[in-house]
Amino acid sequence: MSHPGTPPSARLTAAPPPSVKVRAPGKVNLSLRVGPLADDGYHPLVSVFQAVSLFEEVTATQARDGAGVSLTVEGPQAEAVPLDESNLAWRAALLLADHTGISPDVELHVRKGVPVAGGMAGGSADAAAALVACDALWDTGLARAELLELAGQLGSDVPFCLLGHTAIGTGRGHLLTPAMTRGEFHWVFGASETGLSTPAVFSRFDELTSGAPASNGLDDDTALMQALRAGDPTALGAALHNDLQEAALSLRPELARALEIAGEANALGAIVSGSGPTVAALARSRQHALAVAARWTAEGATDSVWTTTAPAPGARVVS
Ligand code: C5P
Repeated sequence: MSHPGTPPSARLTAAPPPSVKVRAPGKVNLSLRVGPLADDGYHPLVSVFQAVSLFEEVTATQARDGAGVSLTVEGPQAEAVPLDESNLAWRAALLLADHTGISPDVELHVRKGVPVAGGMAGGSADAAAALVACDALWDTGLARAELLELAGQLGSDVPFCLLGHTAIGTGRGHLLTPAMTRGEFHWVFGASETGLSTPAVFSRFDELTSGAPASNGLDDDTALMQALRAGDPTALGAALHNDLQEAALSLRPELARALEIAGEANALGAIVSGSGPTVAALARSRQHALAVAARWTAEGATDSVWTTTAPAPGARVVS
């Protein structure tokens, strides 16, 4: 409809601000071997990470000049996620802006798809997704290696959420080498409504090992790496390992029952995921994964169950 006398520009609806949506995966540690606490407050570790097809989705929308960062969150357990600068996605936007000299004016919207505070790197996936989304939104031109470096400053698991697939992590877990795998693995995750604090689990680990853990490195994971290369889920199930499991179980004894039930349901292997409290079971097939999930639900062993496949790609722009 025409409006005589109104200039054409005033009749046009303003274009929506530019926006980028990025998806980043959660992870499971197929193996997690932890050394003694170092002077920097971290434990050196050797871990085999696998990204799973449970994704966090972060949308970054350009905000007006000087608006700063804002954050909204939706999805399961969204109420447990901080909405301020303590949120890793928020910190990712600030870090990237600071590094590139860009004004950090962005609205971040997070859609949760990974259990919160569950040892599956959901918060780290948010940071990885926010980094990639803001990087694309602001067209920074940073190399992938620079983004990985920034990711490592945000948290030990953030670089892996950027990279995805399967990788061996050393250092704090942030120095990554991609690992070769074949085929698709079927996972079941049992999450708890109450998360576990990663530092608390590491401290319990220190107490239990009296500061002198037995871990002797990646040699222990030869069978695991072979299983991955062969795409052999039975061998992979038998090779799963988590040095933090005993610490997580001592803080949450009821998780032991979930692991036992997975065994009764013939899971190929079952472990606490990372620092927990999520438990992970490897299944033969999608049907088998659903059967394990049904047992956990029927016995009330976990608050929620999630079935998925792995490996999954790292953080990438979806629109
Ligand atoms: O790196 P991120 O911030 O995720 O680590 C959270 C906490 O977990 C650290 O402050 C530290 O207490 C513990 N941690 C550790 N050794 C690692 C990774 C994390 O002790 N390799």
